[in-house]
Amino acid sequence: MPVISPKATPIYQTSVFTFNDLNELETYFEQPGNRYMYSRYANPNSDELANEVNALEGGAGAIVTSSGMSAILAAILAVCKAGDHVLCAEEIYGGSSVLITQELSRIGIEVTYVPSADTYSFDALVQPNTRLFLAETMSNPLLLVFDINRLAEQTRKHNIKLVVDNTFATPILTKPLLLGADIVIHSVTKYLSGHSDVTAGVVICKAAEDLQRVQKVMMTYGLNLSPFESWLAARGLKTLRLRMKQHCANALDVAEYLASHAKVEQVWYPGLSAHPQHRLAYEQGGGMYGGMLSFRIADDTEAVNKFMRGLEHIPFAPSLAGVSTSISYPLGTSHRSLSKEQQQKIGITAGVIRLSVGIEEPEELLTDLERGLSKL
Ligand SMILES: Cc1ncc(COP(=O)(O)O)c(C=O)c1O
Repeated sequence: MPVISPKATPIYQTSVFTFNDLNELETYFEQPGNRYMYSRYANPNSDELANEVNALEGGAGAIVTSSGMSAILAAILAVCKAGDHVLCAEEIYGGSSVLITQELSRIGIEVTYVPSADTYSFDALVQPNTRLFLAETMSNPLLLVFDINRLAEQTRKHNIKLVVDNTFATPILTKPLLLGADIVIHSVTKYLSGHSDVTAGVVICKAAEDLQRVQKVMMTYGLNLSPFESWLAARGLKTLRLRMKQHCANALDVAEYLASHAKVEQVWYPGLSAHPQHRLAYEQGGGMYGGMLSFRIADDTEAVNKFMRGLEHIPFAPSLAGVSTSISYPLGTSHRSLSKEQQQKIGITAGVIRLSVGIEEPEELLTDLERGLSKL
């Protein structure tokens, strides 16, 4: 057999690994990390992805999961049991809110939503059984920016874990663990993999005990990621830094264009000086503001339809963070399951469109957006 020394990691497309004898089996248990046994527990491809993301986020270790949702689930179940209580930022991805309100409540984990105005003064909402606070670095879809340092001061004071969904910001902008968060999660489906061809998640922990709990939950609930998806995501991750630079530069151009457009009533982008947390976003993102923005045209679904149909190159695709630009409609997709009252309260109205700005030449994007807006 010739020496095989591949530059790229092969895909270990196997559900199980073999052992020569019982001594090898004992080595597996006695020396964790020494060899592999079963891909639901660990696989070289998922380990590679976990190690790369962990290095970017500066954690004690990471566990990859089958989706962003299973990453959030694993993080919460690692910390909470029946009878516990969690705090959750009111402005959050709709799926996270549904998970906690409609599913975890069924197994005895209760939630209190923290209104944006009380983000750094939630003492009155903490209960003796409160275990964690879940928030996003930049909220989906209206790009509220959370001051992780300030939030961490509060969670430390109450001895509860701060869990941060860093999907929108990515570690290229912000590393929440270094700012005081305990656990970071990502929908790897988005920027980390970056090409709209993977569904995956990751949980990164600051403390080894949290990591062990997350690993146990991932293995036991079967929340693992397949070798092929791990490989694809690890491949995408290699260009994260380059992609983010272009996403951010393009998004700023697009935000400025939209903010000065007569048909656009409001733009939410942390890079605009009018954004309420512009200064914080600048500091926390190292001068980068991300590739996501939202804007509002007339609060009328027919106007939204006309705009969408008027676009030639930008598709309506209810996800985000791919290399090519897409739009989404929070009221009809990501935040559909929220009550009317919740939607109104956080400002998701009929004219709000979310834009995931890709890495194309910016002129192409502005031309297509103008095409859509001219139909209004
Ligand atoms: C901020 C955020 N967190 C988590 C998720 C869930 O990720 P996934 O779809 O990979 O399960 C999403 C999905 O859109 C998201 O936008």
